[in-house]
Amino acid sequence: MDVAMLTATGLCKTYSTPQGALQVFSNLNLTLLQGKSLALMGESGCGKSTLLQLLAGLEQADAGSIQLGEQQLLQMNDHQRAVFRRQHLGIVFQQLNLIPSLNVQDNLAFQARIAGNHDLTWQQTLIRRLELDKLTDRYPHQLSGGQQQRVAIGRALAVKPDLILADEPLAVWMNVPVMR
Ligand SMILES: Nc1ncnc2c1ncn2[C@@H]1O[C@H](COP(=O)(O)OP(=O)(O)O)[C@@H](O)[C@H]1O
Ligand SMILES: [Mg+2]
Repeated sequence: MDVAMLTATGLCKTYSTPQGALQVFSNLNLTLLQGKSLALMGESGCGKSTLLQLLAGLEQADAGSIQLGEQQLLQMNDHQRAVFRRQHLGIVFQQLNLIPSLNVQDNLAFQARIAGNHDLTWQQTLIRRLELDKLTDRYPHQLSGGQQQRVAIGRALAVKPDLILADEPLAVWMNVPVMR
C-alpha cells in the first residue's frame, strides 16, 4: 500500500528583501511516498533550498501545512520541532556544518548520540560503505571537500532517519562510491 511519508499542502513563502517582498512560492503542494525519492530541479534562485529549509522545519512557512509521517511539522513548537528533526530527519545541506573540533568518527556519531539511537555496528557499516575507513581519526579541516561531503552523508544516515533531505544532491552523491 502506498503510504505518504511527506505531504506539503498550500505552502507559501515570502522573504522581505531591501528591494521589497520576494515571493518564492505560493500554494505549493507535494507528496512523497514512503520508500520513494523525489528530485527538485530548477534554475538557481527558484526556491529549492528554501523549500528544503521549510521541510526541515528550519525556516518558517507563511502558510500551509507539512505532514511528515503522522506529525504536523508546523503545529510543533521550536523544541518539539528540534526533537523531531533529530529523531526522524537526515539532513545534508550545502553548508555541511561538520563540527571542527570532532574527528570523522565523532562527527558521524554526534547526532545519533544526541538522538539517543547511536548504533556502533551501523556506524561501522557506514564508514566502510562510504570508504571513510582510513579517515576516521582526521578532523574536518584535514579532509577534501568530497571527503567532507561523505562524512556529512554518513552523519545524516547514522540516525537511521525516516526521511533524508539533501540540497544539491548531485554534487553530493557523485562523491559517494556506494551510490554510483
Ligand atoms: N534569507 C533570505 N532572505 C531574502 N531572500 C532570500 C533568502 N534566502 C533566499 N532568498 C531568495 O529566495 C530565492 C530562492 O532562493 P533559494 O531557495 O536559495 O533558491 P535555489 O536553492 O533554488 O537556488 C532567491 O531569489 C534568493 O535570493
Ligand atoms: Mg539552493
